[in-house]
Amino acid sequence: MQLLDGKQTSQQVLARLAEEVKAFPPGARLPKLTVMLVGEDPASQIYVKKKAQTAQKLGLLSEVLTYGAEVSEARLCDDLDRLNADETVDGILIQLPLPRHLDSLGILSRVSPEKDVDGFHPVNLGKLLMGQLPTALPCTPAGIMKLLEAYQIPLAGRRAVVVGRSNIVGKPVGLLLLQQNATVTYCHSKTQDLAAVTREADILVAATGVPEMITGEMVSPGVVVVDVGINRVEKGLVGDVHFESVAPKASFITPVPGGVGPMTIATLMSNTVALYKQHQGCQEKEKSACP
Ligand code: GUN
Repeated sequence: MQLLDGKQTSQQVLARLAEEVKAFPPGARLPKLTVMLVGEDPASQIYVKKKAQTAQKLGLLSEVLTYGAEVSEARLCDDLDRLNADETVDGILIQLPLPRHLDSLGILSRVSPEKDVDGFHPVNLGKLLMGQLPTALPCTPAGIMKLLEAYQIPLAGRRAVVVGRSNIVGKPVGLLLLQQNATVTYCHSKTQDLAAVTREADILVAATGVPEMITGEMVSPGVVVVDVGINRVEKGLVGDVHFESVAPKASFITPVPGGVGPMTIATLMSNTVALYKQHQGCQEKEKSACP
């Protein structure tokens, strides 16, 4: 069994990005990421802090706008309109989940698709569905694909089983695996005889939010396991996979922490820089069109 080391792989991604940022011409505008955080969810607060810290370490500009849980949709939409029009902002991220009274789809749709650093705008998800790659892909799914690529895990023709069908992880990672010619099966809480399906997996992605739900008897020898979960339980942080029983059967497995999490953050940073470059390109074109 070999660990899919997301910490190390993400550091390589971040080091390459740092070089790229350092090489920007002197006086150039810097990429800017704006994060909107609504409410006081402790996990979201930690994730957002980590995102902002990583951006700052890389030399990007970052801003976190915080709102009380009772904020109105109108207020968020007004702020989004302002950020969409702000030439200094390249990427906008709305930390999810949003409080229940807010219409997540409506709010995600209000972000300009060109600044949609999470790839959650329906236009960008639609592109992904149609087999195109938008500039910014959803961070966790794209981070998983980068990790599999870094370890040269073959995907074409192999059986990938995704457990979990969230819009953030399950659905898009299945589409990306499909784009790499894997044979993809989605499982979820209504799947009958889940273990029979997961045992068929060459590549198993667990994104259920249920601590240690995937156990050793649910996988076949040689499986590649990607554990997206991060759950705080009495004994500490655990994934959606029961590491002790699954790891001995796996050929590769992500640790928790240090697997998918750091890849998500690194992808967010590369998405921010990619949107910045696209945005800069448009600004240059506009300037040359209007001398
Ligand atoms: N909440 C959990 N994961 C994510 C993510 O990748 N992006 C956003 N915006 N919110 C999240």
